[in-house]
Amino acid sequence: TIDLTLSVTESPQALARHAAKIFVDRCHDAIEQRGEYNVALSGGRTPKLFFETLALSQFCSGIPWEKVNFYWVDERCVGPDDQQSNYRLAKEELLHKVSATHFYRMKGEINSQDAADEYESLLRRHFQLSEGEIPRFDFMLLGMGSDGHTASLFPGYDGIEITNRLVTDQYIREMEAWRVTLTLPVLNNARACVFLIQGKEKHEVLTKALNLLSDRTLPAQRVQPHNGKLYWIVDQDAYTG
Ligand code: 6PG
Repeated sequence: TIDLTLSVTESPQALARHAAKIFVDRCHDAIEQRGEYNVALSGGRTPKLFFETLALSQFCSGIPWEKVNFYWVDERCVGPDDQQSNYRLAKEELLHKVSATHFYRMKGEINSQDAADEYESLLRRHFQLSEGEIPRFDFMLLGMGSDGHTASLFPGYDGIEITNRLVTDQYIREMEAWRVTLTLPVLNNARACVFLIQGKEKHEVLTKALNLLSDRTLPAQRVQPHNGKLYWIVDQDAYTG
């Protein structure tokens, strides 16, 4: 069984507010129970409005940001100031605005294999993992591409099958680009995985993806946290097309 909540919102703004509310609620629970909140962020278009919304005083004022640790789900192989950088997006739209102090980016500017190795070591250190252990994030922000990819785990590539690594690099032929990404075991060990899906162009893939129980061919469908909650928050445009 999976603990899935599907929410359909009337607009992208409502989607962002709904996700921000979940972020805040889970933050309070995590801090009360464990004293910190470990978050992993994705990039792409959809998180922008979520970050902006979270930075509004209505949401951000109640959060003890010094107890929030930000990590990344994936990164493009570009420098931290590049327009394409997932780190840059989060920094500009959220981290700077709320004066976040603990954030740990994937290094898109160095060789992707080294960046993956470094990030894996960083996670092992921070989460004090022994051999074979997997970090348990409190809030994993995810998106889905029109091809069904999530994080930088793409259909038809071996990254999605990797089980002996926390972080990997992956060359994406269609994009002629390298990516660095958390692997599926890390996604599926989270306490909450939160997909944000927005726009008509996602309708077709969303219709397929939501057959989570009978079909697990798309990488996004394989995100089914074994001891956590799965949220799919989608807007009306994506849901009805
Ligand atoms: C990235 C991502 C990626 C993203 C999807 C959806 O770095 O691009 O983390 O997995 O979530 O491509 O992106 P949109 O929100 O732009 O549709």
